[in-house]
Amino acid sequence: MALQTTRTSFTPGEVWPDDQGIHINAHGGGLLCHEGMHYWFGEHKGSGPKGHLAEVGVHVYASRDLYNWKDSGIALQVSLETGHDLESGCVIERPKVIYNRKTRTFIMWFHLELKGKGYDAARTGLAVSDKVAGPYQFVRSVRPNAGVWPVGATEALKHPAASASELAERDAVVAGKYLRRDFPGGQMSRDMTLFVDDDEKAYLLTASENNQTLHLHELTDDYRDFTGRWTRVFAGDSNEAPAVFKKDGKYYMISSDCTGWRPNPARSGVADSIWGPWTALGNPCRGTEKDISTTFESQSTYVLPVPGHPGEFVYMGDRWRPDNASDGRYIWLPIEWEEGKPVLRWYETWDLSQFIPNRLSD
Ligand code: DGJ
Repeated sequence: MALQTTRTSFTPGEVWPDDQGIHINAHGGGLLCHEGMHYWFGEHKGSGPKGHLAEVGVHVYASRDLYNWKDSGIALQVSLETGHDLESGCVIERPKVIYNRKTRTFIMWFHLELKGKGYDAARTGLAVSDKVAGPYQFVRSVRPNAGVWPVGATEALKHPAASASELAERDAVVAGKYLRRDFPGGQMSRDMTLFVDDDEKAYLLTASENNQTLHLHELTDDYRDFTGRWTRVFAGDSNEAPAVFKKDGKYYMISSDCTGWRPNPARSGVADSIWGPWTALGNPCRGTEKDISTTFESQSTYVLPVPGHPGEFVYMGDRWRPDNASDGRYIWLPIEWEEGKPVLRWYETWDLSQFIPNRLSD
């Protein structure tokens, strides 16, 4: 049996060994805290430059303290069946799991790209399980809300004037160029997150319209489908990697620009309602020019409400290693607050005692 040192702190960017001494393989991940345990779901990446292709599936790890993680196996397996949506060699990214109290089931949504089709499919996949660590059964993949206009869609959005064809690209996107194109078959869905509100309503927030506009889709009560209520967020602003959290009744978002695997300056936003309007709060990073322009060489994937510390949050980001995907690193940092805005600073090493009540909140 592997003898592991018990960890008592986070060391962002370093190798993070699991209980077997192997670097955690759960990229683009998210956490679910359930009955005193934390479960970290993420992309199992392979080695080398093709390691972003899913040959294994979604990996899950379990922890009581957030520092020490036990390998709990593969929650969702790829398929060996030719033509299956999850056929080995497809792309499975940013899996997120939420618990549905009504049906007592665990619900996973993820970004799916079909094998051999690059990033063209732009679908979201659903898998469910009655056990938190799985195995999860694949249900289907879709492009959300085919044939449904967003809440409050104007006539101009549905039926543009002839002069709309002369608009510059960004204006054309905002005016609904891709939204209308994808209306019949469903809206694109790439980078994504899930958010469950205090009233247990759940939402999929996802990069759509060729990654240029985020879409917020309300999920049905069982979290397995869309209600048809959806809206656009930051239209034309090219956000990826969205992560949402709620503090003192306000909704906050951390997201990124769109630069493939290369890091870029993060963005943040706030809204009084999850439906918006959302207001941009700017780059949350504080530090050196490089820290600020690369988000500490990371891209957001999830914001964790700190268990036992209401109103405190941990930023989770990925430091991608596209030449050897499985060696990607995890950047977890405490979220601090400055004039009502979430901010991130670099800590070589830190632990949860950082969250002493009132110390970091303003
Ligand atoms: C950036 C996204 O955030 C990642 O999840 C992944 O889709 C890469 N782009 C692919 O280039």
